[in-house]
Amino acid sequence: MKQYIIKGGIPLVGEVDIAGAKNAALPIISAAIMTDETVTLENLPDVNDTNVLLEAIRNIGAQVDRVDRHTVRINGSTICDCAVGYECIKKIRASYYLIGALLGKCSKAEVPLPGGCNIGSRPIDQHLKGFRAIGANVDIKYGKVIANCSHMHGAHIFLDTVSVGATINIMMAACRSEGLTTIENVAKEPHVVDVANFLNSMGANIKGAGTDVIRIRGVEKLHGCTYSIVPDMIEAGTYMMAAAATRGDVVVRNVIPRHLEAITAKLMEIGCEIEEGDDSLRVVAKRRLRRTHVKTQPYPGYPTDMQPQIAVLLSLSEGTSVVTESIFENRFKYVDEMTRMGAQIKVEGNTAIIDGVEGLTAARISAPDLRAGAAMVIAGMAAEGFTIIDDIEYIKRGYEDLDKKLRILGAEIEEVETEREIQKFKLTAG
Ligand code: UD1
Repeated sequence: MKQYIIKGGIPLVGEVDIAGAKNAALPIISAAIMTDETVTLENLPDVNDTNVLLEAIRNIGAQVDRVDRHTVRINGSTICDCAVGYECIKKIRASYYLIGALLGKCSKAEVPLPGGCNIGSRPIDQHLKGFRAIGANVDIKYGKVIANCSHMHGAHIFLDTVSVGATINIMMAACRSEGLTTIENVAKEPHVVDVANFLNSMGANIKGAGTDVIRIRGVEKLHGCTYSIVPDMIEAGTYMMAAAATRGDVVVRNVIPRHLEAITAKLMEIGCEIEEGDDSLRVVAKRRLRRTHVKTQPYPGYPTDMQPQIAVLLSLSEGTSVVTESIFENRFKYVDEMTRMGAQIKVEGNTAIIDGVEGLTAARISAPDLRAGAAMVIAGMAAEGFTIIDDIEYIKRGYEDLDKKLRILGAEIEEVETEREIQKFKLTAG
């Protein structure tokens, strides 16, 4: 079993390059199969989730050529099967994007219900409501979503919940429907806009992405294109929190600062200095930070995917902070791990009350899910002593070279598998 071992207490200093956004890459890989022409994707993050999805589309007949680590060529003309296998897909939540993509391409789809991080019940009723509205028959049988349609047409859809997945999925299928589809109360995340931009580069006609209403006029055909995926705001935010928690000085490069405003605002509020460049942000934390309140919200609010990371930071800040999770109901599983490191956090319903402590101490902990796993790495880097983190497969789903990038910033972190490797690390760590 692979683990991270970390010697904490070292401020992170230096510059780090941010990869393409996983949550944009997953729908974009899915949408790329909707044309029979070749699509070249650049700035693709090399993380487990994207690799699993590439394997899944290869398994249904798509041609996938890795040009280099971050560039892939996809050709969907050879797709011969609209039934996606369970083995690959059970591991990733975003398998649901293949429903919208296959409906758009071949008017039918059979996709196993998604797996992914266990952070709440995660229904997909809004996705299905949208597909039905544009004319698809949708059933859930034998653990799969089975959808087909003889004629997809425009519709007016009002989402009951602001959902990133439902917005993107319906948008993809509607690209190939006849007439105008209007989706209201949509998600406005940068990755929603990125997927719309990508589909438009393929010849779709989508307007309004990034606002509350998206209008899609269906087109006969989509064509090939070359597209570079937007930088990952959550990866960037994670390094910003890591810089702050270790009282470091870090520049995150290849970012769009506007996408990070909710995170930047919170860091400034609690006492970090932030310097904004054209495509970079510098975070400096010179002293112990202050308390605050955080409530997760759809974009442009504070992202739920950055909730565990800021909770770690606040567990080390002065005073009592309150973190309210309003998107997913099961996103405080890391609190038990933090308690083992000396944090003082009490969870009541969807709220965590955090009494800041002077310091954390190392412990053997595990990564409860992807983002909480990254938060545990931050906790380990801020804590005194050697922290060992189990279940790091969760972290590898969404962070490219996390340990390597942190080492560039001066962290003592290593991926290990055996007791011998752990002992060696302890002997050699600076
Ligand atoms: C995506 C992201 C995830 C992020 C989340 C919110 C991917 C692969 N994952 O997840 O990292 O945390 O957005 O920014 O991009 N809901 C329903 N019915 C639905 C769909 C959603 O009730 O049909 C609810 C969910 O339970 C949740 C809220 O809507 O409470 C938001 O979920 P959604 O935005 O859909 O999240 P995901 O797309 O699953």
